[in-house]
Amino acid sequence: YRDTAAEEKMNPFAEQEAWEEHQIGKATLKYGSKNKKQASDDYQFVFEDQIDFIKASVMDGDNVDYDEEMADSFEKSKAKSALEALLDERKKLPIYPYRDELLKAVEEHQVLVIVGETGSGKTTQIPQYLHEAGYTKRGMIACTQPRRVAAMSVAARVSQEMGVKLGHEVGYSIRFEDCTSEKTMLKYMTDGMLLREFLGEPDLASYSVVMVDEAHERTLSTDILFGLVKDISRFRPDLKLLISSATLDAEKFSDYFDSAPIFKIPGRRYPVEINFTKAPEADYLDAAIVTALQIHVTQPPGDILVFLTGQEEIETAEEILKHRTRGLGTKIAELMICPIYANLPTELQSKIFEPTPEGARKVVLATNIAETSLTIDGIKYVIDPGFCKMKSYNPRTGMESLLVTPISKASAMQRAGRSGRTGPGKCFRLYTAYNYHNDLDDNTVPEIQRTNLANVVLTLKSLGIHDLLHFDFMDPPPAEALLKALELLFALSALNKLGELTKVGRRMAEFPLDPMLSKMIVASEKYKCSEDIIAIAAMLSVGNSIFYRPKDKQVHADNARMNFHTGNVGDHVALMKVYNSWKETNYSTQWCYENYIQVRSMKRARDIRDQLAGLLERVEIELTSNSSDLDAIKKSITSGYFPHSARLQKNGSYCTVKHPQTVHIHPSSGLSQVLPRWVVYHELVLTTKEYMRQVTELKPEWLVEIAPHYYQLKDVEDSVSKKMPRGEGRAQSDR
Ligand code: CDP
Ligand code: MG
Repeated sequence: YRDTAAEEKMNPFAEQEAWEEHQIGKATLKYGSKNKKQASDDYQFVFEDQIDFIKASVMDGDNVDYDEEMADSFEKSKAKSALEALLDERKKLPIYPYRDELLKAVEEHQVLVIVGETGSGKTTQIPQYLHEAGYTKRGMIACTQPRRVAAMSVAARVSQEMGVKLGHEVGYSIRFEDCTSEKTMLKYMTDGMLLREFLGEPDLASYSVVMVDEAHERTLSTDILFGLVKDISRFRPDLKLLISSATLDAEKFSDYFDSAPIFKIPGRRYPVEINFTKAPEADYLDAAIVTALQIHVTQPPGDILVFLTGQEEIETAEEILKHRTRGLGTKIAELMICPIYANLPTELQSKIFEPTPEGARKVVLATNIAETSLTIDGIKYVIDPGFCKMKSYNPRTGMESLLVTPISKASAMQRAGRSGRTGPGKCFRLYTAYNYHNDLDDNTVPEIQRTNLANVVLTLKSLGIHDLLHFDFMDPPPAEALLKALELLFALSALNKLGELTKVGRRMAEFPLDPMLSKMIVASEKYKCSEDIIAIAAMLSVGNSIFYRPKDKQVHADNARMNFHTGNVGDHVALMKVYNSWKETNYSTQWCYENYIQVRSMKRARDIRDQLAGLLERVEIELTSNSSDLDAIKKSITSGYFPHSARLQKNGSYCTVKHPQTVHIHPSSGLSQVLPRWVVYHELVLTTKEYMRQVTELKPEWLVEIAPHYYQLKDVEDSVSKKMPRGEGRAQSDR
């Protein structure tokens, strides 16, 4: 790396200036800060009060057992001092001096846009302040998060700060996991979950405050929530609406919410030195690892945060780092490696928040989640390779893909900022200054403009919102994508020709799943295999973490996996067999070990399966098993996934039927060596090629039988009529 000095010649101070500006930040509170002194004095008082309140509740045995008084007194005093320590921490947060001003602003305005740097205390403190001010007497406080991990970890933190058990007064709700109770007053939830709550309670009557947090992330669900909460705020004047964001472009939110006032929480930020690479890096993962090690051996204490694109990359980096530091032995200080990504098991997530032991250094390997949704204290160095995984969608073909994409300038700024929270920091960008200035977009395109909208359209239709073209979008989606979604829902028989919800559609909307998956479940009624299908749906929902493949036992693991594929039943049925076999062993952990199956994923699948069973009851579909009739099961799958059908070509690749495109069976599929003539797939993933993941064989006549409005006989004529393009590889199959 070269130091910034040389870079500055090329681009004098541009970066530095921007930071300076952030730092000084002008602290423009729209609500005059004249009473600040008074305000914080009052607050002091409130806080002392609260210590007593919390102490009292601990003493009262809120979370300590009454009966074992003696043994507990030691525990109690420990819990007490932990609470006091937490209160001290709360008081140090940048938001703390503005507590009363904030409460006053909320009282005076129905809608408030709140802007504050990541880590200033918006997510953890604001709901608590509102609770202390009595808002929870009128209803719950909802705080939405774009990410599951953030919702869970923030709820856990707040429950600690309040000295209550997670799931009681403070809870969280994410898809397939409801950790709340009758007592819950502060509810952290994913934005998608709040969206679903509208289905049961269109006016959100059980809430007194809705805080749409991390608004700058502009996820699809957040964007839809904007429209819905704006609408209900008109006829629910008692409902308070907070839109909070970590970035400075709050004007846009304010404009959208009829010029709602903006409340700025001045951040404390230290200067960040930004380093670019001299030349583009060929392998950013390797570059990131080398940089982390360099920092570790040459730089003063302070933890490192590395932004990577996903679980696989993080696991690879973790392995390499472990290997290399082991090689260095005692020559270097201890390096604690802490991964964090969405699917990381909950019990491992808290590791990133644990303080680094004296003399050691922590390196956090994170996805975008650490950009703004999670604050990790003690970070002094940020390594930013400049990429993230981003969804993109082609409305013409209806294909969705998750691609590693360059980040935006706004993201790069946020990432760098993570290093300057507690003192001056350094950010190492693994790209050139030229790349930064010329190749990165200013802002990330909102998800609504680059995603499949079928799910959202189905939700909106179930909410009775028919005129989607005139829905109050902050940034409207492409009309083509809306049409495509309507088309798909029509094909799935969820909508009729007039675009109205059908009975099938109404049933589908009950399931918090992708419409194709919901359709597969609803269709299972006809084929009398609902029990088998929900097991498959649950296993698919868990993702690709069912089987594991330890490096030193790959052959054993592959053999174990192939056992479930006997008879080339296809990946869906194999998943069902895994589930059923596990069930037959009475959900044995030992069995999972023996079969190289992740017991944690299986438990999650069981959980999801049970919830799907509950939803089946709700839509009055009987639970019936028909597991020996594989055709029935495959027909159910096809009823949902017929738009995802593909036909074998002479060269061993496949061609999708509806919008011809070359695809391949993923090597992990049980059918990757079998190459059936016709298949239906769960999803496409683009790595080195466009791969179909989770594949099942189908009979082409099913397509016409099941979706006559979608496929005609000529689409499925079983001759390989298309000429093979020259040079596309050798012909593998003549079957
Ligand atoms: O929402 P915002 O980024 O403004 O801040 P926050 O999430 O409320 O975090 C405030 C502080 O709480 C952070 O600086 C962390 O010290 C602490 N925190 C934590 O220790 N564990 C969490 N899971 C979340 C926050
Ligand atoms: Mg936050």
